[in-house]
Amino acid sequence: MSGAWTSAPTRRKNEPAVTLRSSRLTGFYRLALAERRRQVAEVSGVTLERFAAIDPGALPLAVADHMIENVIGTYALPFAIAANFVVDGEDVLVPMVVEEPSVVAAASNAARMARPAGFTSTLTTPSMIGQIQITQVADVVAGAARLQAAAGALVEAARALVPRMTDRGGGPTSLEVRTLATDPDGPDGGMLVVHLHVDVRDAMGANLVNTLCEALADRIAEIADGEVGLRILSNLTDGRTVTVRCHIADAELGGPAVRAAIAAASRFAELDPYRAATHNKGIMNGIDAVLVATGQDWRAVEAGAHAFASLSGTYRPLAVWREAEGGLAGELAMPLAVGTVGGALGAHPSARLALEVAHITTADRLAAIAGAAGLATNLAALRALATEGIQRGHMALHARKQHRP
Ligand code: MEV
Repeated sequence: MSGAWTSAPTRRKNEPAVTLRSSRLTGFYRLALAERRRQVAEVSGVTLERFAAIDPGALPLAVADHMIENVIGTYALPFAIAANFVVDGEDVLVPMVVEEPSVVAAASNAARMARPAGFTSTLTTPSMIGQIQITQVADVVAGAARLQAAAGALVEAARALVPRMTDRGGGPTSLEVRTLATDPDGPDGGMLVVHLHVDVRDAMGANLVNTLCEALADRIAEIADGEVGLRILSNLTDGRTVTVRCHIADAELGGPAVRAAIAAASRFAELDPYRAATHNKGIMNGIDAVLVATGQDWRAVEAGAHAFASLSGTYRPLAVWREAEGGLAGELAMPLAVGTVGGALGAHPSARLALEVAHITTADRLAAIAGAAGLATNLAALRALATEGIQRGHMALHARKQHRP
């Protein structure tokens, strides 16, 4: 339902009903900080008091001290809201934490251009991969065959270890055997890797997957007649991807010449890994800002994104743009392993507030919004580069000048 808020995921019993408002916050950037906060509270239906979670010092030292080791303080970054986003038909205020000027304004500008249809997403099941490395396998072919034959029983054993996850419709789903080195006398010895595929529902899943790998490893090594090696998830989560699309009309872009220039910029990234790296950096500007705001393991997503970009053997852009129907069609496809349960979320008050403000209750919704933010910052960067250039006026200036929230 475009232009309306439809749910209040974390609303407590006595809180007022969620205000149905648009994410199109006209003149937001011109408001004083306190007034912006008041408006976000009103639009999101999150009480103003909750915003203490992003005040200076909101992360208590005692909590920080339990999060990581050797703590001597906390470190603050700006917390902002990107306006104008519609994702899968629902308006959303997109929380962003980033140190780089212009990212938030650029995302808001691009999201405005993408309205009213906004961004649409398609997600795979949230399937993570756990890797169990088996070394010193005397007969790799026979070992792999025995593991294949035992796959069903191994998956069942793995499922039995996580009954609550299987009750929720997730859990281990399949097991795959990959041969990495066949020669027992070669430099790597005989080496196999077992992939355990696990549907982790709304978790990022690292802890669950690592636990399962450790629990199954001895039995797997025994079946393969080899030694247990590493037992750890893969950050190349190509079974857990998001695809985000949008269409921008010529009138929003600034005409057919701009449209053609952006399509040519996309082709440049598709033809040249040197350009693709920078193109993808512009995508990660938006994605990482959402991930940091919402307490995600952004290094995991970065690692997965760049490995995925290289899967064909050549480093490729994660998003491409084509001229279509009097405008531009953009498509981003990449792995995005995020969670709305577990991780830093239990400890970090600002991350929990970010999810509340964006009405995010599921990992799928978070991945769709982060992906939309990435496609938006990519579009804004390409438009700036394809028109007046990033340095002439600098992107920050460009974004602010163009800013019409
Ligand atoms: C700067 O943070 C990001 C850009 O370099 C992205 C791009 O070149 O597409 C502007």
